[in-house]
Amino acid sequence: MSPRKRILSGIQPSGAIHIGNYFGAIENWVRLMDDYECFFTIVDLHAITISYDPKLLQRRVWDAVLDNMAAGLGPKKCTLFIQSHVPEHTELCWLLNCVTPLGELNRMTQFKEKSEQERENVTAGLLNYPILQAADILIYRADAVPVGEDQAQHLELTREIARRFNGRFGGYFPEPATLVGRGARILGIDGAAKMSKSLGNAIGVTEDPDAIWEKLRPAKTDEARKRRHDPGEPDRCNIYSYHKLATPEAERAEIARGCRGATIGCIDCKKIFHRNLMAVLDPVRERRQALARDPEAVREALRQGAERARRVARETLDGAKKLMGLL
Ligand code: TRP
Ligand code: SF4
Repeated sequence: MSPRKRILSGIQPSGAIHIGNYFGAIENWVRLMDDYECFFTIVDLHAITISYDPKLLQRRVWDAVLDNMAAGLGPKKCTLFIQSHVPEHTELCWLLNCVTPLGELNRMTQFKEKSEQERENVTAGLLNYPILQAADILIYRADAVPVGEDQAQHLELTREIARRFNGRFGGYFPEPATLVGRGARILGIDGAAKMSKSLGNAIGVTEDPDAIWEKLRPAKTDEARKRRHDPGEPDRCNIYSYHKLATPEAERAEIARGCRGATIGCIDCKKIFHRNLMAVLDPVRERRQALARDPEAVREALRQGAERARRVARETLDGAKKLMGLL
């Protein structure tokens, strides 16, 4: 049996996950776990490159762990770990620092955006962020990295770093491919901005079903449907775009007809979505609750994840050090 190809992705510890994360990324990863050997890491060391509160970070990392495990990244199917638990990442990061041209880092869009936001607090860590990301990937010699569109530039730099290392010290790191997912880029319940926790327009994956309904009920739909008997256009409706995530095609076609012919009201339409969404989220929320009741088991899973990751990481790091002439 030939070894399975390997994937790594990094998860920002921005706390509890929302349905945009779930349908945009995690669902895709769960599918990939059948075909690839998967490493997923919660990137706490990346999170400290901008201003943050230590207590809050701790909570966000824990929430990210519970939510992602509940959503399907369980220890039986992949290697899930916290980045700072595998110190080899930072050690390789230093080695890669020494082959990365400074000019490339200054060009990174994410760096430019974040340094705008940080103003007084632009650290060397923020500048070197993409090198740590390259280390995350290269240390597992990952074949591919499933990420969103916005990470394309970082992935290009990762390949450039691999090429430079290989050119200088001998072919060692494979150049990882970018696996851009189905990319369900969904809008928040405001129907205006991309769904984001910090914008307050998100539907949480493990939120209470009633709380989710309270968000859906008043949400904006197609403006043409001012009254119940006004026909609407599903393609102009944010709720209809949500149906594409959780409602089977046949039922969706029926809804579209009902909307155009004004035979279904928006509240009924939202109720259908809520029901279908809950069919997906109920088991996730229940698993989340079970995990929260047993934090020791979660910690043990993280320990095992880090241990498994370290075995691979250690070996790659040792080889890189040898090639670089370190005794
Ligand atoms: N920079 C990525 C983001 O903002 C997170 C990340 C860190 C990552 N390390 C990674 C993604 C390694 C893929 C692979 O989403
Ligand atoms: Fe949107 Fe459904 Fe209302 Fe049509 S019936 S406008 S798809 S919520």
